Amino acid sequence: MTETKGIDTSIEYCGRRLQSPFILASGPLSYGAQGMIRAHEAGFGAVVTKTIRLQAAVNPVHHIGKVSGDTLINCEKWADFDRLAWYEKEIPEAVRAGATVIGSVGHTPGEAKAIVQDVEKAGAHMIELVSYTEDTLLPMLDYAKAHVRIPVICKLSGNWANPAATARACYEHGADGVAAIDSIGPVLKIDIHNRRPLMMSGDGYGWLTGAAIKPISLRINADIARGVKGYKNLYCIGGVMSAADALEFLMVGSHAVGVCTATILKGIGYVGTLRRQLAELLQTLGFGSLQEAVGAALPNFPQRECVTDLAFSFAPEACTKCGKCALVCPYAARKLEYPTMHLDAALCRSCGLCADYCPTGALSSSCKEPTAAHARLAEASAAFDKMIAGE
Ligand SMILES: Cc1cc2nc3c(=O)[nH]c(=O)nc-3n(C[C@H](O)[C@H](O)[C@H](O)COP(=O)(O)O)c2cc1C
Repeated sequence: MTETKGIDTSIEYCGRRLQSPFILASGPLSYGAQGMIRAHEAGFGAVVTKTIRLQAAVNPVHHIGKVSGDTLINCEKWADFDRLAWYEKEIPEAVRAGATVIGSVGHTPGEAKAIVQDVEKAGAHMIELVSYTEDTLLPMLDYAKAHVRIPVICKLSGNWANPAATARACYEHGADGVAAIDSIGPVLKIDIHNRRPLMMSGDGYGWLTGAAIKPISLRINADIARGVKGYKNLYCIGGVMSAADALEFLMVGSHAVGVCTATILKGIGYVGTLRRQLAELLQTLGFGSLQEAVGAALPNFPQRECVTDLAFSFAPEACTKCGKCALVCPYAARKLEYPTMHLDAALCRSCGLCADYCPTGALSSSCKEPTAAHARLAEASAAFDKMIAGE
């Protein structure tokens, strides 16, 4: 296990102390006891089993592939061990090794009824319910809450119309925690060499994970934190590839951080790097504890659109002359004649992309104080929005 310096990143989750805020999300790395033990030893605070169902999965080949960069497609099903193996060997072995084990149970009310009590008896510390459809999740939860004593977490899908409303319903039905989100899809990747879908599922479609889904998950986690009064034990999942990604989720109110794709692509030991870098990042940004960061961005969500101009500043000594600032300007407003940076104010629309893409921060931007003219523009824009909304 990796020791972290600086800020203590251990957390309390569903009444249990976890050695780190990182939770290994259900997936191929938690295929059985050995995978879960490796994850625990590498520094994960908890591990979620591969989803246990009434029958062991038979997977098509091939079933995990690359979309691009840090984004994957998969059509892997649930656990390929029989459920009895989970009760008799996989869960007890991981628990004996000291791992905090969350038993993932899917996908129907009938299966929850047949499985949750045995997962508790096997020694799991918590249960995570996962289903394909929103309307099956609550009956699964009702049964689990009535029949097990360990905490029950509900995993939400980003494919559902209003995950925050589902989270609210889950808490009302007694959920101890919520995990958001599962993979997004269905999606498609074509293997151009073989002229066919990359995934060998029945329809060639699969599910998207990793970097591409992070902004969706971040918005859903923020929706839950901002919209569900008294929400608790919210752990995010979706595209966490770095400590900065994890911190974004904490800042919108997630209490713990699920990881799957990052440790598939970078190795299980990468969780040690995530822990160390998160502790350092928290310290650098002036947080006294991890808990201080939870929800830190929530008070700063805008109440209304900001209509003004950007003020730019340029520090030539930090400029590498890469030219990205001029290249990405959609309006051709920017020109770099080093050491002078030009901006054609008549063409610039203050979109901000040039400064965002500056790799060294040599070019930076901030919002100017709105003038009376800006205020009039903002009013006219809001009036138009109201009119088209039929108000
Ligand atoms: C290959 C693969 C298999 C997965 N299997 C499961 C599963 O059995 N049960 C489940 O709830 N989620 C499963 N997931 C979804 C992950 O738990 C997680 O929600 C998703 O990958 C998003 O997180 P990430 O972007 O960090 O990967 C799987 C993901 C991948 C990549």
